[in-house]
Amino acid sequence: MTATDANRPLARIRSLGAYVPDRVLSNADLERMVETSDEWIVARTGIRERRLADPGTPTSELATRAARRALDAAGVSAEEVDLLLVATVTPDMAFPPTACIVQGNLKASQAWALDLNAACSGFAYALTVGAQFVSGGAHRNVLVVGADTMSTIVDYTDRTTCILFGDGAGAALLSPSDDGTGVLAYDHECHPFGADMVKLPAGGSALPTSQATLDANQHTLQMNGNAIFKFAVRKMAELPARMLEQHGLGVDDVSLYVAHQANARIVEAAAQRLGLDRERVFINIDRYGNTTAATIPLALCEAVQQDRVHPGDWVILTSVGAGLTVGTALLRWSETPVCFEAGPDSSLAKGA
Ligand code: ACO
Repeated sequence: MTATDANRPLARIRSLGAYVPDRVLSNADLERMVETSDEWIVARTGIRERRLADPGTPTSELATRAARRALDAAGVSAEEVDLLLVATVTPDMAFPPTACIVQGNLKASQAWALDLNAACSGFAYALTVGAQFVSGGAHRNVLVVGADTMSTIVDYTDRTTCILFGDGAGAALLSPSDDGTGVLAYDHECHPFGADMVKLPAGGSALPTSQATLDANQHTLQMNGNAIFKFAVRKMAELPARMLEQHGLGVDDVSLYVAHQANARIVEAAAQRLGLDRERVFINIDRYGNTTAATIPLALCEAVQQDRVHPGDWVILTSVGAGLTVGTALLRWSETPVCFEAGPDSSLAKGA
């Protein structure tokens, strides 16, 4: 499904916030846990370390921190938020929605709130949903959060998956734009032929939790990495190329390509297929691993901090995730303050 919002006021990313936990799980740590090596992990994935939340930390806590930072960066109060979307595959619990818990933490008393699950494409999908309410005129402030605590669903005895994932959260505040900047278009796809390629089999209605599912280790992430790799390389080039063509743009017009950080080799291969040189491709998987719904806002935050994107630039966001979902968005960048520091954080302790 593809669409352009060119005839309506656009939703722009007014500010960004992100949060990662302090605790670092390095490749050296993983060498002590499973049969792997720093050399193998770096060569095959580009990952050097990832952040893990302390056991017992709910995803809502990461999401709240990132959301608060986005609001702080914009100077907007929580009471001004109209809609709060949380994209996640690791909700605090099946229900209530994690978004409602975050809404309570923020005291965003005027907002309605819901979760959205599109796995690694969660942020791109939620951005599209949120943008509709802004460009349609219904809302002025929509908070879009991508947050995952992957450490709660990763099997740390499985070397094929445990090296990949980390915990984190990122948030974007969307508001109407009056200068043509913002989310210009989206192009999303779903491919259920790949529904079995990456999944968490048990704990839902198809396979409720039982002693048998626990004994069979069906409550952790399972993945066919090779199949997803090829699909992701293909789709994260094909959809951006199609979107650019539809908007009369060429690859040379793109200033920044921010792909879901699943594997540096996937991102590099997709960008190369698209015809982008390395300078316009953003990669930060080396420090955070795959944080699922959080990778894109986390990458956008760092791209702004590193002066890699400027007002007026064309930016492509693209992702592939469980489903299989494919999410792609074309943005004309606007001035975007960010709030993110990957170091120790005491904002919750201060009651922030
Ligand atoms: N350390 C050392 N060796 C390993 C490790 C490891 N951590 N993991 C696998 N190997 C071995 C394999 O057993 C295999 O050995 P063999 O040749 O003796 O059989 C060898 O390394 C090669 O394995 P491959 O799976 O072919 O390695 P590949 O280069 O494909 O990398 C990887 C695997 C990193 C998983 C890659 O396929 C990948 O990144 N896939 C995409 C994953 C992804 O995008 N997931 C996103 C979905 S997540 C979501 O939506 C929530």
